[in-house]
Parts: sequence; structure tokens; C-alpha cells
Amino acid sequence: MKYLRTAWFPVLLGVVFLGIVLGRFLLAPHKTIVQSARDPFPENELWTPPREEEIPSDSVGDLIRYGRELVVNTSRYLGPRGIVNTVSNGMNCQNCHLDAGTRNFANPFSAVASTYPKYRERSGRVESIEFRVNDCLLRSLNGQAIDSAGPEMRAYVAYLEWIGKDVPKGFKPRGAATGDLPFLARAADPARGVRVFSANCVRCHGENGSGVYNNDSTAFIYPPLWGDHSFNAMAGMYSLSRLAGFIKFNMPFGIADWKNPQLSDEDAWDVAAYVASQNRPVKSFPGDWKNISKKPLDYPFGPYADPFSERQHKYGPFEEIKKSREKEMSEKKVNKK
Ligand code: HEC
Ligand code: HEC
Repeated sequence: MKYLRTAWFPVLLGVVFLGIVLGRFLLAPHKTIVQSARDPFPENELWTPPREEEIPSDSVGDLIRYGRELVVNTSRYLGPRGIVNTVSNGMNCQNCHLDAGTRNFANPFSAVASTYPKYRERSGRVESIEFRVNDCLLRSLNGQAIDSAGPEMRAYVAYLEWIGKDVPKGFKPRGAATGDLPFLARAADPARGVRVFSANCVRCHGENGSGVYNNDSTAFIYPPLWGDHSFNAMAGMYSLSRLAGFIKFNMPFGIADWKNPQLSDEDAWDVAAYVASQNRPVKSFPGDWKNISKKPLDYPFGPYADPFSERQHKYGPFEEIKKSREKEMSEKKVNKK
């Protein structure tokens, strides 16, 4: 009896634990749930990326290393003075995918190998990893697509597949994308945001948000937040919730992280609104959001399937839009019965 108890108890505990973890993943695969004010993101479910030293020392490893290098120093290879090609705006992938895409809540690459190819509503098609990388080149780096069969794309894909190799197929670990902030009761306010910007951001990103170049102008030391060399208005970062979530849990750089955010939620929303209110490149993607009812709440360009204005979709208040969508969904369900 004693033997049985000692042998079964750890197994039972393991099964229960696995059940809880799997249940969480399966029930809420696409959502970061903010649980409480003190510990919003229980650490035990976060992704642990493989370490750079673990990249194999063969020719496959060389391709993975080149892919990592292209994430970290994109501009050196593909920027306006790139040594391989000149297809992007001077930013690096790492500017938004911090620590070569290994940092949780900083748009990590944790769920790329595990969830692609996948259907996405923006394009209305099944996207490959290559398609998704080119999407960031076209939008976030306001540039051009690169050849899917070329060495640079092969390297990106090799790195993305390697970095995500330990995540089970279909899973999106906690800490993917950024943390979600609770909606404000009011619209986010660029006029309040400019004060947050002056106090917390200007010293690196500059008074006019245009960033700071290195000595030979081959890359930014501090990347631009708006203007000609910034991400364009069709980039994911232009959505206020993405921008505010990224800023809250990662900026000011080197001081804030998801465990030690520096800005209040209010300040994060307002400074994001200020950044989003400034000029940036605009590019047309006529294939986007063919099904307009699938546009995210904070997608800043109409037409919409709801009566709210572009301005409200850009700055909020978002709660009203959310409630109205939920109401519509439940009415649809009732009508079906
Ligand atoms: C201006 C910021 C920015 C830059 C620069 C940028 N990205 Fe992204 N990228 C994003 C955001 C925001 C997302 C969406 C994150 C999410 O929703 O999971 C994203 C998503 C991705 C994804 C899909 C992630 C997923 O889990 O679905 C890949 C792959 C990716 N980026 C690759 C790249 C590569 C490669 C580069 C450089 C060529 C790059 N990105 C540059 C902001 C950026
Ligand atoms: C200490 C310098 C520093 C401060 C202060 C700082 N940042 Fe950053 N920020 C950076 C660096 C460096 C990066 C790129 C990180 C990398 O490439 O590893 C970055 C990246 C970003 C990005 C994503 C890339 C881009 O250019 O769009 C945004 C958005 C951003 N910062 C916003 C802010 C905001 C808003 C504040 C103020 C609340 C702020 N930062 C404060 C240094 C700073």
C-alpha cells in the first residue's frame, strides 16, 4: 500500500499538471490572459528558446546562423546600403522581435515553427513562413519581398524552424506576441502621450521620432518610431493594442521588461497614440481583409462591418466596439436556432 502510494502520487500529480497546462493551451490558444495585477503572466508556461551555442556546427548550422544574423543586423544586408540587396528601410527585424526573436512578450518567434503554415484572416489564405517573413519585409520594413528560394529566405526559414523546434505542433506558448493591456474607458490621447514621450522616449528615439543612425549610416542604433524610415501604416505594429502592449512590456529599452514594466497602462496607451498620430509611409495592400467583419477592433482603416468611425477604431474607446460585436455575435446565434 505504502509502495503504491509513493509510486502513484507523483504520476497522478504529473497527469493533473499536464492536464492543466494542456487545457490552458487548448482553451485559449490565441489569447494572453491577464490574470491579476501582481502576477499577470505565470512564468511556468513561458517559452524557453534554445541557446545560440546549441546551433549545430555543420552546414545546416551555418544557414541557421546566417538567418539569426539577418534578424539581428537586417539593415547591414538588406537595408538602404545593404551588402546583399537594398530592399528595406534601415530597420532590423530585431528592433521589434527583441533578442533575435527570443524574448517573450516582445514578439518572439516562439509560435512560428509550431503554427505555420496557417490560415490568416488578413490575407484570407494559408500563409507559409516565407510568406509571413516577406509580409514583415513589405510592411514592418516598408520594403520589398525577397526571393523565396534565395539564400536569405532559406536562412530566415532555417533560423525560425530551429528556434521553434521544441514547441509542440499547433501550440502557441504564453508570451507570444506582446502582453494585452486592459482597454481604457476613454480614447487614447496623443496630447497626453507627447508628455510621456518627452519624459521616457526622446533620449533614445529623438525629438522627431526618427531614431539615431550609427557612424556609417548602415543601421540605426535607436530605430525610428515614425517618418520615412519607420514601419508603414499596414504593419502590425500600427495597431494601437500591439504598439501599446509592446511599449508597456519592453520600453524604455534596457529598463523595462514584462516583469518590470515602467509605464502605467494609461501612459502606454497614450504614448502609443502619440506615435500612431505621426506621419509614416503608406502603402496599399488591396488583398487585405477581404472579409471586413474580421478586422481587429483596433484596425485603423475602414470600411467596417460596424457603425464606429475610423478614429474610434484607431484610438478607442474600444470597449463599446467590443460589446457591440459581442451583441451581434450572440444575436446571430439566436437567429440560427
Ligand atoms: C516594426 C516592427 C517589426 C519589424 C521590424 C519586423 N516585424 Fe515581424 N512582426 C511584427 C509584429 C507586430 C508581428 C505580429 C506578432 C504576433 O501577432 O504574433 C510580427 C510577426 C512576425 C512573424 C509571425 C510571428 C507569429 O508568431 O505569427 C514572423 C515570422 C516575423 N514577424 C518575421 C519578421 C522578420 C524576419 C523580420 C525582418 C525581416 C521582421 N519580422 C521585422 C513586427 C515587426
Ligand atoms: C534607452 C534607449 C531607449 C528608450 C529610452 C526607449 N527606447 Fe524604444 N527602442 C530602443 C531600442 C535600442 C530599440 C530596438 C531594440 C533592438 O533592436 O534590440 C527600441 C525599439 C522600440 C520600438 C520598436 C521598433 C520601432 O522603431 O518601431 C518601439 C515602438 C519603441 N522602441 C518605442 C519606445 C517608446 C514609446 C519609448 C518611451 C516610452 C521608448 N521606446 C524608449 C531604445 C529605447
